[in-house]
Amino acid sequence: MCGIVGYIGTKEKKEILLDGLQELEYRGYDSAGIAVIENHHLEHFKAVGKLENLRNKTKSYNSNGFGVSIGHTRWATHGKPTELNAHPHLGEFSFVVHNGIIENYQELKKELQSQNVTFLSQTDTETIVHLFENYYKKTPNAFTAFTQTVSRLEGAYATLLITEAAPEAIFFAKNGSPMLIGFGEEEVYFASSDTPIIGKATEVYYLEDGEYGYTQNGTVFLFNADGAKKFTTKALATDKAMAQKDGYRFFMEKEIYEQAHVMNDTMMGRVLDNRVYFEELENNLFDNIRAIKICACGTSYHAALTGSYLLERIAKIPCHVEIASEFRYKEPLLHDDTLFITISQSGETADTLEALKMAKRAGLKSLSICNVDNSSIVRESDQAILTRAGIEKGVASTKAFATQSMVLWMLALYVAQLREAIDADTLQQELQAMRQTPKALLVNDKLHEKIHRLSKRYLHGHGFFFIGRDLFYPLALEGALKLKEISYRHAEGYPAGEMKHGPIALADSELFTIALMPKTLHYDKIKSNVEELSARDATILAISPEPFELADDFIQTHYDEHPMLEFFEMMVVTQLLALEVSIRLGNDVDMPRNLAKSVTVE
Ligand code: M6R
Repeated sequence: MCGIVGYIGTKEKKEILLDGLQELEYRGYDSAGIAVIENHHLEHFKAVGKLENLRNKTKSYNSNGFGVSIGHTRWATHGKPTELNAHPHLGEFSFVVHNGIIENYQELKKELQSQNVTFLSQTDTETIVHLFENYYKKTPNAFTAFTQTVSRLEGAYATLLITEAAPEAIFFAKNGSPMLIGFGEEEVYFASSDTPIIGKATEVYYLEDGEYGYTQNGTVFLFNADGAKKFTTKALATDKAMAQKDGYRFFMEKEIYEQAHVMNDTMMGRVLDNRVYFEELENNLFDNIRAIKICACGTSYHAALTGSYLLERIAKIPCHVEIASEFRYKEPLLHDDTLFITISQSGETADTLEALKMAKRAGLKSLSICNVDNSSIVRESDQAILTRAGIEKGVASTKAFATQSMVLWMLALYVAQLREAIDADTLQQELQAMRQTPKALLVNDKLHEKIHRLSKRYLHGHGFFFIGRDLFYPLALEGALKLKEISYRHAEGYPAGEMKHGPIALADSELFTIALMPKTLHYDKIKSNVEELSARDATILAISPEPFELADDFIQTHYDEHPMLEFFEMMVVTQLLALEVSIRLGNDVDMPRNLAKSVTVE
């Protein structure tokens, strides 16, 4: 969740770096920094908070003539947002910027400290620059030292390094975090996405995992595990708005595809070793807490419901969920042994904010789960967990829901650890499943094509019922909300076991039932609920790892070992279905009628 920019050439470097970082600021704005080497002179600046602060600090600085430069905007994961923890990180004669997480940094740090290396920051990144300088001191060849450094790194990284030992080069490496190289006239750019270099570079090469190298005199020397590698560049987009969509038709589509990637950010620094950590939470948050109440609206309410199943099942703590607009006026009875959690993508939803204020007035401790740091809800809460989904532009929420659900799953494990409500084996199984989530969220081309094809059958009819049980009931609610928001078709989410208590009266061939049929939770129960609907001639789209004979349409999912992996895989299917139906109906997917991204009025 950070942004990187690099430049090597003769132009004024400060402006290139700051303008580029401005484009990436949405990825992190805890602190920012730049470093430049020009005429063998190393200069660097860092500032906490928004980029504006760095701009002010560098007002009187200019860098003309040939030089190398790197910049970074940070979203704190290891260590607080302070100037010392801001990138670029400094060794004795080199600087480094980095996105991602060096998983073995503690081991590397210990090794370096035992050789009298002093660390200034709390970050994992600082190990890279010291490791490099340590190797360089033994073998004074900068590229050899950089190669040795990269070979020691475990985890996800996109990194740039500049050093007085080779003042005309930028060293780079990529594994698991995005990085590209842009080519202009006798100049080379680096960035973690293409918007910072659009209008500056004309050609681009998107680095692949495991690639590293350096650039010098306008040439890029690229390597991977097999040695030197040839590469071909392609033309860089010229339209920033299009580039922001990365070639997708709509932001919502891009955001659905991004989910696999952002989930790594959500887990980063939190799912470590054999436990879940929330560095941002004070240790005493759960002292004297006997119950949890969650308040939210819309999609965030559906995530809250998902969380209530997980918190009760895993952490064995009573958990009640309320729609914020209802909670506000019901004169709720609140006890100070209840932790009050609010969930909000924007952090500005008026009803949720007001519910939080009421809970605080009643003396409850509060925690928010939010995507926007410094938003009103985060500021109002005692403590906050950021979901790190990155900016979500589509009005219909997708990656925000995915990351909220993930944070709640992690929170359930965290509370279970505190309350000793989970045994070591079960915890390991949960963590193992959790680490597989990014894979379960990957959109497979074949699946997308299949949903595109079958969506044409789901344009009319008199309504949709999304049905599920247990964790898949909130997912059914969310699937229905997605469809109605962007297709304007009537859709309801229902607990499958409730259909026979009324709604089944609607069943006929024009009633579309989207049946969420996970293998790991009550498969036989949901199967018989769907059979009842099929017997009344409802049109059934079944989503399940198990083939289902009575389905008119069937989408086979793959994860069948853990309910949450099934949950996330099915979530993607429902999102794509809503997207494809909406596109076929010619609607504006990103800005559906009558809706707004942030609802700041009652
Ligand atoms: O920003 P919030 O999460 O507090 O917003 C709550 C709802 O307004 C929001 O989830 C809304 O339902 C979305 N349009 C759903 O796609």
